[in-house]
Amino acid sequence: MLSPAPATTATTTGTTALTAGAAVPATMRRVSLKIDGLSHDVVVDNRESLWETMNFQLGLANSNLGCDRAQCGACAVLVDGKPMNSCTILSSRLGRGQKITTVASLATGPGVEGLHPIQRAFWLDGGFQCGICTKGFIMSTYALLTAIPKPTHGQIADAVSGNICRCGEYAGVFRAVDTAAAEMRGEKVTYVSKPIVVEAAAPAAAPTVTGTSKQFDFVNPFSTIEEFDPFAQQLKAQAGILDVSGSQGTITVKWDPSKLTEAQVRALLASMGRAVK
Ligand code: FES
Ligand code: FES
Repeated sequence: MLSPAPATTATTTGTTALTAGAAVPATMRRVSLKIDGLSHDVVVDNRESLWETMNFQLGLANSNLGCDRAQCGACAVLVDGKPMNSCTILSSRLGRGQKITTVASLATGPGVEGLHPIQRAFWLDGGFQCGICTKGFIMSTYALLTAIPKPTHGQIADAVSGNICRCGEYAGVFRAVDTAAAEMRGEKVTYVSKPIVVEAAAPAAAPTVTGTSKQFDFVNPFSTIEEFDPFAQQLKAQAGILDVSGSQGTITVKWDPSKLTEAQVRALLASMGRAVK
């Protein structure tokens, strides 16, 4: 299910020199776009695509632009539950209460654990390389699995037939859809690319050991935040490590002082290629 976005919260974004209540030229339209549970009041050019409004007026980078001509599906979002190419659908047609859903509303928390099962499966089962197509594939998959919990590969092929991956990651896409479907049905899944197991119904275990926690600065920060999560997962799997959080430049490690010293934690980080100051 989608994360419970606050459906009635309104965000008003003034976007043109038109003042509130002023007459709108015939070439423009005043619309209220319902995106991920928030209402955005905007004045749009009649020729403006939803992708243009989201990115240029609202600052929402929730879908990628590939071809900009309804050929690749990279820009797909859901409109009333159906995948649509946001590069091609006009914003001026979307002000009558249609519910627009983007990939931004799927996650329910931080890190890999907080991702929607479909996002997690694409991340851990390798359904992407450059990632330009991924948001579109995820939205098409979301629509599919909402309607068909256990699709055949033929049904998956139909559902993502409007999405093109120029990196050719189709085998990974099918694997990711299979995995996501299984997790959404409540089954235990194991990811191909990462040795972690998710038990859908299992409650999060509360930490029972009082640990020592300290923030460190990396000698060489990660280039992107996306690189941090896999590193944190690897570190968490080490004996004596209780929790890990951080960013591109810093890492906060909580460890069991009966098993590790600070010097050993520093040495562990260095042995994993991320020395700290
Ligand atoms: S960018 Fe919209 S279909 Fe390609
Ligand atoms: S991952 Fe590069 S286009 Fe699909």
